[in-house]
Amino acid sequence: MTVDVGGGVRGLLTWEKQEHLVKLAILILAAVLSFATRLFSVLRFESVIHEFDPYFNYRTTRFLAEQGFYKFHNWFDDRAWYPLGRIIGGTIYPGLMVTSAALYRLMWLLNITIDIRNVCVFLAPFFSSLTTLVTYALTKEIHSTGAGLVAAALISIVPGYISRSVAGSYDNEGIAIFCMLFTYYLWIKAVKTGTIFWSAMSALAYFYMVSSWGGYVFLINLIPLHVLALMITGRFSHRIYIAYSTLYCVGTILSMQISFVGFQPIQSSEHMLALGVFGLCQIHAFVDYLRSRIPKEHFELLFKTLVSSILTVVLVVGTVATITGKVSPWTGRFYSLLDPSYAKNHIPIIASVSEHQPTSWSSFYFDLQILVFLFPAGLYFCFSKLTDSNIFIILYGVTSIYFAGVMVRLMLVLAPVMCVLSGIAISHLLAKYIKSVDAGSAAKAGVESKRQFKKLEQQTGGVKSEVAIGFVGIITFMLIVYTLHCTWVTSEAYSSPSIVLSARSHDGGRIIFDDFREAYYWLQMNTPEDARIMSWWDYGYQITAMANRTILVDNNTWNNTHISRVGQAMASSEEKAYEIMRELDVDYVLVIFGGLTGYSSDDINKFLWMVRIGGSTDRGANIREKDYYAANGEFRVDKEGSPTLLNCLMYKMCYYRFGQMYTEGGKAQGYDRVRAAEIGNKDFELDVLEEAYTTEHWLVRIYKVKDLPNRGV
Ligand SMILES: *[C@@H]1O[C@H](CO)[C@@H](O)[C@H](O)[C@H]1NC(C)=O
Ligand SMILES: *[C@@H]1O[C@H](CO)[C@@H](O)[C@H](O)[C@H]1NC(C)=O
Ligand SMILES: *[C@@H]1O[C@H](CO)[C@@H](O)[C@H](O)[C@H]1NC(C)=O
Repeated sequence: MTVDVGGGVRGLLTWEKQEHLVKLAILILAAVLSFATRLFSVLRFESVIHEFDPYFNYRTTRFLAEQGFYKFHNWFDDRAWYPLGRIIGGTIYPGLMVTSAALYRLMWLLNITIDIRNVCVFLAPFFSSLTTLVTYALTKEIHSTGAGLVAAALISIVPGYISRSVAGSYDNEGIAIFCMLFTYYLWIKAVKTGTIFWSAMSALAYFYMVSSWGGYVFLINLIPLHVLALMITGRFSHRIYIAYSTLYCVGTILSMQISFVGFQPIQSSEHMLALGVFGLCQIHAFVDYLRSRIPKEHFELLFKTLVSSILTVVLVVGTVATITGKVSPWTGRFYSLLDPSYAKNHIPIIASVSEHQPTSWSSFYFDLQILVFLFPAGLYFCFSKLTDSNIFIILYGVTSIYFAGVMVRLMLVLAPVMCVLSGIAISHLLAKYIKSVDAGSAAKAGVESKRQFKKLEQQTGGVKSEVAIGFVGIITFMLIVYTLHCTWVTSEAYSSPSIVLSARSHDGGRIIFDDFREAYYWLQMNTPEDARIMSWWDYGYQITAMANRTILVDNNTWNNTHISRVGQAMASSEEKAYEIMRELDVDYVLVIFGGLTGYSSDDINKFLWMVRIGGSTDRGANIREKDYYAANGEFRVDKEGSPTLLNCLMYKMCYYRFGQMYTEGGKAQGYDRVRAAEIGNKDFELDVLEEAYTTEHWLVRIYKVKDLPNRGV
């Protein structure tokens, strides 16, 4: 007896079931793909944590995994911000650390003995897989299954999101995008069903989002905006009343449990839209109720009185609260969203972070490619058939494109909506034209009669099958180009860990510069355990995490005065700097120098920020930016450079002994390859410092501060 297995399966599965299977397969493929594309850096280097901030997250996660949640929550860190210290538990969003520590514990429970570092390295790719799935679910709710699949495929490789979620980039954004889309999905569910269950679920997802990223502010303004838009367009209903009231009440109370957020949800102006819309919801529902109960003319009188008295009360309370300081003034970051030039003019610390700069058009194309062109088409299709959920995605698209234009960093918020809308556009177009292709080929094959073909052609808007084939071809071509672009961008631009640098040598091979880890390891092995290391704040997190030494300032830029003090030390002459360093008990100073290798984000290139930040407080009044420019107004390190610059501490630490080095063929000694200039001050000795260690490629230089008696007055 023979058994025809294939035929059996085919017989068992109806056409519908087969379709389901295919969809499932596509979805799983997209999820796997999004995990895989983020592993380039691990394959190329090893599983290291990237960048600066992730080192802090890694250190805190390790602490949490080892010491438990309560110790973590009450952790006072005396290794950072010497001599002030930092209360870690109350100044971070703990979602990321709690997630990894929970996963870590779970793995151990299952007898998978994984290292906590590897959990951290692979967390972002793992969450990006989840994001792919949730994008599918969201798009399916908003439009259709087909659009959902396309959107999932698009988001799995979109560079704008990959840039923040490659293996090793262990940062809040890695999980926050998932939380955000998940909250949106549940919100749309809640709006569609109007049940307390889905609203409460979306409040929980919102809580997770708040616990993991400061960007939740975008979310808590977008959802009220959606509700407001629904009210204005006359779509307000019981469903929306229930959805929003539940989300706001439960979500706000939950979010206030995060100690870093605290009472902000009811005090800061960024949250006032949510509160206001909550109030409006109550009024709207109340008015609807009254209207159904009272005769018309009575109702109108009542309505007018109510509106005017409520307006007055709100105005008075608002003014009083602002004047007495109960409602905090608009914070700097928020201003810089509305007015890009605000931060630059007012707060050097905000402006000095490159991610807070406006986005250029080329980086839109670089990060999103064809999505930029498909996005308007998607918007158009949404507009052409307005529903409650379509309005949401339109608002999301329009607001995020504005914010992404203001700040490069928010490209991350824009990328998912671009994928959703492009998914809608592609699925719309393909659905329309593939029908014509089918009809055309069917007619050619003579399967259907001419009359039927006419009918089909009418249905599909009278598109000729040749045109349709051409169109489908173009879309396919665009998608292929998109895939190639994404893989290229990912492997070239977004997969270098920045703690291990790589460059191409003349013969095309790869040179690896591992100087950072070399230096941190040296510090850990050769300095006393309580040594205090001064460096610019960018490197603070790495020093505490990798060398386990005390530092003065780091990227948690909470005390400008303190950072400014370090800036003053770097920008002053040796004598002045020595006073500051003694005051702050500094034992070692660490600088990053790229002049030998051509690494351009080194301390000399950041130096003007140190001068600006150093000069921004009273005690740094003697430091003026213009003193550091050459006579012609340029920033130069060669002979033309200003004497103040050539004799300041930073200059001396970077260029000590550099004047005797040959760096490039055909150039004089002391040729700086980043600034492309021969340095101006070559022969000098250090009075108050001595060189302790310089790494292989001179990328990191460490100096020891001499003790007082050794100065030999
Ligand atoms: C850092 O050093 C301190 C002592 O100076 C030690 O107690 C602590 O365990 C070290 N931390 C790590 C992660 O090695
Ligand atoms: C500093 O922190 C901000 C906010 O977390 C981050 O975006 C930025 O990349 C960090 N910069 C450095 C140099 O660590
Ligand atoms: C900030 O740092 C300065 C200088 O180090 C210090 O005097 C001041 O007390 C610090 N501010 C806070 C709020 O701790």
